[in-house]
Amino acid sequence: MEIRHLTVTSEDSLESAMKILDRNALGVLFVIDNVGKLIGIATDGDIRRALLSGHDLKSQTGDIMNENFISLPADADNATIIKKLDNKIKIIPLVDQNNYLVDYATISRLRRIPIASPLLGGNELSYVSDCINTNWISSQGKYVQRFEELFSASHNGMSALAVSNGTVALHVALKALKIGGNDEVIVPNLTFAASINAVLYTGATPVLVDVDALTLNIDPQKIEDSITKKTKAIMPVHLYGQVCDMDSIMEIARKHSLLVIEDCAEALGSTYRNRPVGTFGDAATFSFFGNKTITTGEGGMVLFNDREVAKYAAVLRDHGMNKTKRYWHDEIGFNYRLTNIQAAIGVAQFERLQEFIDKKRFIASIYNETLSPYDFIQIPIEINETKNSYWLYTFLIKEHAPFTSQQLVSFLSNKGIETRPIFYPLHIMPPYQTFGNHASLSVSTKVSEMGLSLPSSVNLHEEEIRYICNTIESFINQRTVIG
Ligand SMILES: Cc1ncc(COP(=O)(O)O)c(C=O)c1O
Repeated sequence: MEIRHLTVTSEDSLESAMKILDRNALGVLFVIDNVGKLIGIATDGDIRRALLSGHDLKSQTGDIMNENFISLPADADNATIIKKLDNKIKIIPLVDQNNYLVDYATISRLRRIPIASPLLGGNELSYVSDCINTNWISSQGKYVQRFEELFSASHNGMSALAVSNGTVALHVALKALKIGGNDEVIVPNLTFAASINAVLYTGATPVLVDVDALTLNIDPQKIEDSITKKTKAIMPVHLYGQVCDMDSIMEIARKHSLLVIEDCAEALGSTYRNRPVGTFGDAATFSFFGNKTITTGEGGMVLFNDREVAKYAAVLRDHGMNKTKRYWHDEIGFNYRLTNIQAAIGVAQFERLQEFIDKKRFIASIYNETLSPYDFIQIPIEINETKNSYWLYTFLIKEHAPFTSQQLVSFLSNKGIETRPIFYPLHIMPPYQTFGNHASLSVSTKVSEMGLSLPSSVNLHEEEIRYICNTIESFINQRTVIG
């Protein structure tokens, strides 16, 4: 509810105050003077008592208001607000330094800026309604096809298959490329667990490789050290939107005749030498989970550069059922289909992809401006003619910083700003401890403790981005002064 629905002037009559109270149903009104400064509070109890003691409906609210009230500064943090709110005080006016009423706080209205939230204000509803109106709600229908065509067209004509999420996209890509059994697949040690899980689902062995300290992505030099006779594929993951060194990776793959499956779950729209990620390897996968650059709620896409492999993947996606002989199964497949309703959301989201990326790059430019003056902060970099789509703006706090990333995280959390830690290195977690040469995984282990991601939603307002930046600056200033 907007502040104006809770505000009366001291000259307003009790009758009009009661009308506003009736509409806001909160039982409280903020009383301002004729320039907008907060001078009192009037509750429905105050008005009732005034009427019983002789005031009438024409009396002015200023005559019966309570001048003894609690207010807080507009930039009060959540912790301060929570301390003031209790069973008696459920709503607190927020004022600027000149006592002008600017906002109000309630428990349900505490300021919280999420790390990533979807923006669904385009054609999503109309396309979903179309699915419902036409009865095409399952995994057949024009939106699935359109969504696949959009991906294919924007990825050098590769064959695109919509699937139910980014994890099964990886699984079906690996299966369609006949990876499994005795094969080894090279996976970065710093990634979301889905990358390694998909390899394990196929029965192949993941080989964990360390990352580069600047890009947080797989280190090509270390890939070569990990290649054995069993190595079948490399899975570069473009983490947080930051692009892998694809020239070096593709050169290694060619030299050793290895397949390449790009995990682009976090990097839709990132480019390497003007070429979109996902177009370099034999296959590429994307995720459309709710926090991703575009979303379908849950969803994924897999791209193949070989049409025959893509056709085989389409069979695997649909229970392994023969495409010409219905209900005949040549092998065990999966149900990895995306619904038309999800694809309808995807098509509408895709229509705004460029706008979303521009916004994410704009957000990143403001964060970069704020953080780059500090030598103890490592901002994300764009090297080798890469363009980062900044799915999540992620930076590192170096060892000589006057604070830890954990201290910054709790400060920001207290101010209602959500952050996200970098992934744990895979090799330290129980299911993955036997993979990779642990002695060679020191960079991923170190950077994992040093970094965090900041709110990166495309629906962030510029004032919110400024608020986040100001809050970080004030934290750093405090810490730098205290030492
Ligand atoms: C790098 C990476 N790979 C794969 C996935 C899996 O995608 P999904 O959550 O859609 O299964 C994710 C999702 O968060 C991811 O970040």
